[in-house]
Amino acid sequence: MKEFITDRLVIRRFKTDDWKDLYEYMCIPNVIFYEPYEVFNEEDSVNAAKNRETQGEESCFWAVCLKEDNKMIGNLYFQKQEPEDFMTWEIGYVFNPKYYGRGYATEASFKMLEYAFEELKAHRITAGVNMNNTKSWRLLERLKMRREGLFLQNVFFKKTADGKPIWHDSYRYGMLASEWFENKSKYSKVTTFEF
Ligand SMILES: CC(C)(COP(=O)(O)OP(=O)(O)OC[C@H]1O[C@@H](n2cnc3c(N)ncnc32)[C@H](O)[C@@H]1OP(=O)(O)O)[C@@H](O)C(=O)NCCC(=O)NCCS
Repeated sequence: MKEFITDRLVIRRFKTDDWKDLYEYMCIPNVIFYEPYEVFNEEDSVNAAKNRETQGEESCFWAVCLKEDNKMIGNLYFQKQEPEDFMTWEIGYVFNPKYYGRGYATEASFKMLEYAFEELKAHRITAGVNMNNTKSWRLLERLKMRREGLFLQNVFFKKTADGKPIWHDSYRYGMLASEWFENKSKYSKVTTFEF
């Protein structure tokens, strides 16, 4: 199975045993506030970890673990978009709040961009983020992804009690392979994490 090692992290495929670490952050309402699903209970967490393990290399989820103690502190979402020959992937991330503010999500996402552009030969990486999710779009900007637009009320994931859509205004970010290679020399701050 493929895995990636960075300065502080191991990014690998999920195992069923990850469910407790997954539950630790997926049960928190604030963590999934902008996500298209509800909080996970213990059973949801076991099922999700198990499915992600079963799907193996086909899964769009990657577990992000601390090198020092193997603690699973978050996950990346990395999914090829249709049509296949556009060579475009979408990136996303959800991390355990105990580990915010230390650059772990940036470090993991940076590795995924490197994998995408340098191994998979991606043409474009894209990400969508609620305009109020400042931590998320700041991360994308640390990665030097480019804000491509603000889409008003373009998506909803949940409805109010009386069935009305809760619309999100969202930014779309993108990066082309040409931009990745142009920017590479300017990434020293990201790769050494000297923010
Ligand atoms: C989005 C999310 C992963 C961002 O978490 P984060 O901790 O802000 O991101 P990072 O791990 O990259 O850490 C960056 C922060 O650590 C700081 N930092 C400290 N040490 C650092 C280091 N060595 N390297 C890089 N950054 C470091 C940075 O300055 C930055 O802080 P700032 O935003 O106050 O400037 C997190 O908020 C989350 O999981 N949210 C819930 C799920 C979600 O909304 N996902 C996105 C849906 S679109």
